[in-house]
Amino acid sequence: MLVTGASGGVGRFAVQLASRAGAHVTGVVGSPERGEGVRELGAEEIVVGLDDEGEGFDLILESAGGASLAAALARIASGGTIVSFGNSSREATTFDVSGFYGRATGARLYAFLIFDELAREGSGAADLTLLAELVAEDALDPQISLEAGWRESTEAIEALLQRRVAGKAVLHVD
Ligand SMILES: NC(=O)c1ccc[n+]([C@@H]2O[C@H](COP(=O)([O-])OP(=O)(O)OC[C@H]3O[C@@H](n4cnc5c(N)ncnc54)[C@H](OP(=O)(O)O)[C@@H]3O)[C@@H](O)[C@H]2O)c1
Repeated sequence: MLVTGASGGVGRFAVQLASRAGAHVTGVVGSPERGEGVRELGAEEIVVGLDDEGEGFDLILESAGGASLAAALARIASGGTIVSFGNSSREATTFDVSGFYGRATGARLYAFLIFDELAREGSGAADLTLLAELVAEDALDPQISLEAGWRESTEAIEALLQRRVAGKAVLHVD
């Protein structure tokens, strides 16, 4: 499977949980520096940017949007699923639709919104319990990369937008 935005807060959780579940994980990052530590979380391969050509993936977790989603549509395997849950690039996506349905027969693009999933599955408490237990067992590292006071939220948000946070940002209430 492939995880775009693998260096980010969601990506670092996704890499760990997928690897733990037995998937062969490839992580996509913006630069070699941004990829530091992602292999240690369980990614077998790290690539800088996603090309339109190359091996296919059975599952792609896609959060960069724009050209990254277009590349994901070109790289999904037949019968595979792209889970689209973000548009960090804030760019529109243009893609070759005949290449998608003609090549990746049976592949699907799934629109994921956490609040809708939780409402439908009713699994919020169980999911959070599992994650908290894994963290308590040192089986899941939340990758907290930035901690600051609530009054420094502007700086923290700027750091996230400038791709300087390698994982989660936590703000403490004074
Ligand atoms: N649908 C939902 O329910 C849901 C829930 C939570 C989050 N989200 C979305 O999921 C995405 C990830 O959240 P997050 O908390 O992990 O954010 P994050 O920590 O800021 O990570 C985003 C990652 O995306 C990459 N990125 C940023 N701009 C990019 C660009 N222009 N092109 C390609 N890659 C880019 C960055 O990686 P590099 O610097 O290595 O390129 C960064 O590590 C966000 O878009 C967020 O809005 C959706």
